[in-house]
This record gives sequence, C-alpha cells and structure tokens, in this order.
Amino acid sequence: MRKNFGAKPLSYPQPVLIIAAYDENGIPNAMNAAWGGISEMNEISMCLSEGHKTVKNILKRKAFTVSMADAAHVIACDYVGIVSGNHVEDKFTKAGFHATKSSFVDAPLIDELAVALECRLKDYNPETCILRGEIVNVSVDERALNEHGQVDPAKVAPICFDPFNNTYLKIGEKVGNAFADGKLLK
Ligand SMILES: Cc1cc2nc3c(=O)[nH]c(=O)nc-3n(C[C@H](O)[C@H](O)[C@H](O)COP(=O)(O)O)c2cc1C
Repeated sequence: MRKNFGAKPLSYPQPVLIIAAYDENGIPNAMNAAWGGISEMNEISMCLSEGHKTVKNILKRKAFTVSMADAAHVIACDYVGIVSGNHVEDKFTKAGFHATKSSFVDAPLIDELAVALECRLKDYNPETCILRGEIVNVSVDERALNEHGQVDPAKVAPICFDPFNNTYLKIGEKVGNAFADGKLLK
C-alpha cells in the first residue's frame, strides 16, 4: 500500500538555495528558494515569484549568486525566506549576512555561506516564474576545502528542505560512489 499525497511540489531532496542580488543602489538582498536546480551544464533554473524583491533586483542588475544554505546558518537562511526586502530594507544585514562583490558578475557573495554559484541572468518568464541563469563561476571558501583543495561536505554541512514536514535536514553521510557503484550490476 502507498499513501497518495496528491499533485504537490514534494520531492527529496529539495535544495535550500539562497539567492542574492544587489538593488539599484548596491544594497544586497537575499531570498530562500527550494524550487530549483541545475538544468544544463552551465545553467540553473528556479521558480521564483515575480513580486519578490530579489527577483526585481535580478531583473535590474541581470546577475545573482546562488549560495548553498548550511547547518550553521539555518536561522538566517530561513529568515530570508519568510521576510521580504520589499518591507524590510536591511534584511540582508538583519540576517547577519555580509556581502562581498563577485569578481565574475554584478552580484553579492554571502561571506557566511561557503559554496556559491555566480550567475548571469539568462531570462525570466513571469507567467511560469522560471528564472534561468548562466553559471559563470562556482566559488568555494577555503574554509570548506580539505588539504587537497577538494570540497569537504562535512565542512560545508549543506542542508536540504523536507517539504513533507517543513523542516531542514543536514546532508552528510556518504553511502556510495556515483558513476561507480552501479557497475556491480553490469
Ligand atoms: C523553505 C523555503 C523555500 C522557498 N522556496 C521558494 C521558491 O522556490 N520560490 C519562491 O518564489 N519563493 C520561495 N520561498 C519564499 C521566499 O524566499 C520569500 O517569499 C522571501 O521573503 C522573498 O524575499 P524577497 O522579497 O526579499 O526577495 C521559499 C521560502 C522558504 C522558507
């Protein structure tokens, strides 16, 4: 027996993407988005509602960053998902975030979040809410790297969104090797 949950946006794992952009005065703002992911080799697609301050900023500056939310910053990452920069001017600062301008695009990197995609706006369709960005660079703060310069997921401690329970879960335990374990059945 399976239980049916209906036609709803429920899947595992859903990302916790923190999207950041500057407004026309260079003030950074950020929002939380769970509906999105990689859609091509150098492309990310997300479903973002037109009214969000972040979307307005992206349309003005034609650029944004997408940081991976992490366990150390759950409160800040949830905060930017429940308060709008349309109403709270210093939302980014209130979240405890600090911005450093990306060297690749006209958008802020969030110092507190180690892993980020730096993106140029490709297009936005307000009817479908789909916003697509070209990934121009991926940067990872050194504090999340191991001694070989590789990304250490234990140091990043990324989180995912559980839409079934409205919770955030820490991503952690390694259970296999991609493009490899399946060979056992070949
Ligand atoms: C867990 C979570 C996931 C969210 N996912 C999305 C999403 O995928 N698309 C979207 O448009 N809004 C999403 N939101 C809502 C926005 O983050 C929220 O409306 C935010 O206040 C917009 O901020 P802004 O107006 O300052 O840009 C999500 C919020 C939370 C807490």
